[in-house]
Amino acid sequence: MPAEGTPAQRVVLGVTGGISAYKAVEVCRRLVEAGVHVSPVLTADALRFVGKTTFSALASVPAQSSLFDEASPIPHTRLGQSADLVLVAPATADFLARYAAGMANDLLTATLLATRAPVLVCPAMHTEMWEHPSVQENLDTLRRRGVSVVPPESGALAAGDVGVGRLADPASIVSVALAMLGGRGDLSGRRVAVSAGGTREPIDPVRHLSNRSSGKQGHALAIAALRRGAEVTLVTTVERPVPAHPRLSVVRVDTAAEMESVLSIESDKADVIVMAAAVADFRPKQVATKKLTKDDGVPNIVFEPTPDILCGLVGRRRAGQVIVGFAAETDDPVARGRRKFERKGVDIMVVNDVSAPGVGFDHDTNAVTIMTADETEEVPLTTKDAVADAVLDKVVALLAGQEGRTGAPGAEEH
Ligand code: CTP
Repeated sequence: MPAEGTPAQRVVLGVTGGISAYKAVEVCRRLVEAGVHVSPVLTADALRFVGKTTFSALASVPAQSSLFDEASPIPHTRLGQSADLVLVAPATADFLARYAAGMANDLLTATLLATRAPVLVCPAMHTEMWEHPSVQENLDTLRRRGVSVVPPESGALAAGDVGVGRLADPASIVSVALAMLGGRGDLSGRRVAVSAGGTREPIDPVRHLSNRSSGKQGHALAIAALRRGAEVTLVTTVERPVPAHPRLSVVRVDTAAEMESVLSIESDKADVIVMAAAVADFRPKQVATKKLTKDDGVPNIVFEPTPDILCGLVGRRRAGQVIVGFAAETDDPVARGRRKFERKGVDIMVVNDVSAPGVGFDHDTNAVTIMTADETEEVPLTTKDAVADAVLDKVVALLAGQEGRTGAPGAEEH
């Protein structure tokens, strides 16, 4: 929620005519819950799928759908000028074509021409349409103009089909939207480096050794830090939608060694380092230059330890830097987590019991224990976004404590 006295940030939520328009209701609800002022704008075709009344009941102001029938004679300029973000979910192929062509033949496209606010579009359509060159070229045009895109996911589509084209999960859309609105939070002026995903250690040119980490928690942490105003570097092994944002850099890596070299550079400037990545502990000592085949017999792979990136970062920690480690455990997680906290020398350890239902790998939810030197806090099963905020709350508290001790600049920002 916005701080008291802070005016709510304003989002125009555009809804176009696709079957996933019903999910925009959830996007609307979540944005309002996050303290955002939401003005829904539905196209004529969206109204074939969802009712204006539903959006009017949930949003901050009544939903609008026409350039001409509204109380204000020029609704598009007022909506466009006052928006902090225009979010279109779902965005159909037809809408993307009209927007890319600069048309203004309905309230939504007219609003988009009238706005200078950042724009986020979330396409959803059948796989064949999504893959069509005209759709991809329209999206490229929009991206070149600075429009951010949350790409569709793979899964069940209308009429029983399965493939890429399903609207991204409403929680992810809202998290990206909130990150794009960020900049006024309690991490503004701070540099945060986050690692995410499981490292991939090559065996030969076609095979690697990895683990089940989906990178969702690490990405949620990066987006939450961005939303809270930080300058964020996300060092990740996975392809997941992230907003194009001037305060976010994404570095794609595969191996522990690559991750280590990027993070050692980041650590010289970061105020906060969050090691959410699941780093492989061992890697093949020798990577075969040619694909191993059955003709070579059962391979005899010799392993060697990977560098412990976290220990290295703790060893070179700058004064005032806060370092967060993660521990995925299956047995006696709290006791093992506390021992790992001591052994790794981190400021915060986030412990997952990955054997518990709904926790850890591949889930959208997580339950963790957050440990600091003098506190142990349980965060019961909730979204990975909420876990990210709980971890960052602790980070902010530690940063504030250090400023109290050192008188470091930046305290007045919070
Ligand atoms: N980590 C790291 N480099 C490694 C292994 C782990 O930086 N080579 C980091 C992880 O990103 C995580 C923390 O260390 O933040 C703990 O990882 P975990 O795998 O739980 O601990 P390990 O030290 O590998 O101990 P074990 O797997 O034996 O429990």
